[in-house]
Amino acid sequence: MPRPIHLWAFLQGIGHYPSGWRHPGADPAGVFTMDYYARVGRLVEKGRFDAIVFGDQLQSRGVHGRAPEHLAMPTLDPMALLSAIASVTQHVGLVNTLSTTYWSPEGLAERFATMDRISGGRAGWNIVTTAHPDTAPNFGDDELPEKSLRYKMAAQTVAQAQAVWRERNAELGTSPQARPVFVQAGQSADGRDFAASIAEAIFCSAPTMEDGIAFRNDMRARVAAAGRDPDAVKIMPGLSFILADTEAAAIAKDQAILDLADEKLCIEYLSESLVCDLTQFDVNGPIPVEAILAQTILPKADIARVLEKPAAIGLSLGKFAAGYVRTPRGHNVFRGTASQLANMMIQWIEAGACDGFTLQPAYMPGELEIFVEEVVPILQAAGALRTEYPGSTLRETMGLPRWPADMAA
Ligand SMILES: Cc1cc2nc3c(=O)[nH]c(=O)nc-3n(C[C@H](O)[C@H](O)[C@H](O)COP(=O)(O)O)c2cc1C
Repeated sequence: MPRPIHLWAFLQGIGHYPSGWRHPGADPAGVFTMDYYARVGRLVEKGRFDAIVFGDQLQSRGVHGRAPEHLAMPTLDPMALLSAIASVTQHVGLVNTLSTTYWSPEGLAERFATMDRISGGRAGWNIVTTAHPDTAPNFGDDELPEKSLRYKMAAQTVAQAQAVWRERNAELGTSPQARPVFVQAGQSADGRDFAASIAEAIFCSAPTMEDGIAFRNDMRARVAAAGRDPDAVKIMPGLSFILADTEAAAIAKDQAILDLADEKLCIEYLSESLVCDLTQFDVNGPIPVEAILAQTILPKADIARVLEKPAAIGLSLGKFAAGYVRTPRGHNVFRGTASQLANMMIQWIEAGACDGFTLQPAYMPGELEIFVEEVVPILQAAGALRTEYPGSTLRETMGLPRWPADMAA
């Protein structure tokens, strides 16, 4: 019997492919309606997922005088959306991303305590420190605090929020989970040490099984060194997927979705990712390395590294941008049949590459529907995925200790 697979659905916007919203199985207008969130919530619960995860976007679009024309990126408030989903579901966990750099411990504690109570114990907190530099002006700052300082602030903020929850639980009766499940997604050494000290689940990008094994081994060693049980921390790498009846059909479908992204769309996506405006440059011309480095407010050395190889081989801007959208955010992208995907997931679990997957459908809700209808039954028949939820709280669903040690009076 394989180790059980934990499934999370990372449902940012309307799918993880920049052109996904142009696929006939997408519902781009739906993302502004309650019907869409009700449908997605019920679908995820039907697939017996642990949780839905939403990211946050605290930066403003168009701060440099240019708003993307071709990208469809709705930025609705995730806490409101998760509350809406809570009202039409009974079991699925609701993991929201909120920043320790920009929200107060008291405010964070109140919001998650509310979510935990009204959802019957299904709240999770993806604890991030905010990496996007355009966020700072929205909070009256010129710049983000330096990264290691952001992680120090995060540790303090979490400790203060824990104190608020202990106090509120004593005064008002305990909220079902005492506090939300702690989730973390930092990849740097500072981020990993912070995660090792508090996280109960960790997102990462693991493009290959070997990357997953290396990350999980590293995290388990750090968790043990922090005096915690490595089995009480679930490693949940991102996984994008394109499914069809044969592998060749899946590869063709993938290409067809990518072809929906014309070069203008790809260049806008690249502009968003590199935080600079590339829309004025010739798509057939060279990659404007100097102009990108002059404009971007992201760490320039990191960006220079991304551009180095493609510029050296003389790739045009259009071709580079088209290739860039192919591997959304460096995650594993699977193309194949439902049974191939189920086998791959079981194989990764057995090899110790992860404890589950944070699924990132290429387009929504169509690709998620295919997963739930076709992959979920195969995993269940193999004994790799639950057929019923074990309880009602996220902590029970994830097989975590029912009462967090740090909430002892
Ligand atoms: C799957 C995944 C999802 C993430 N979602 C968010 C998010 O919604 N908001 C955010 O501010 N950071 C998000 N992050 C970024 C991390 O929280 C972190 O800030 C970033 O990786 C920089 O820190 P690091 O250098 O320690 O990795 C995400 C990271 C991963 C791997």
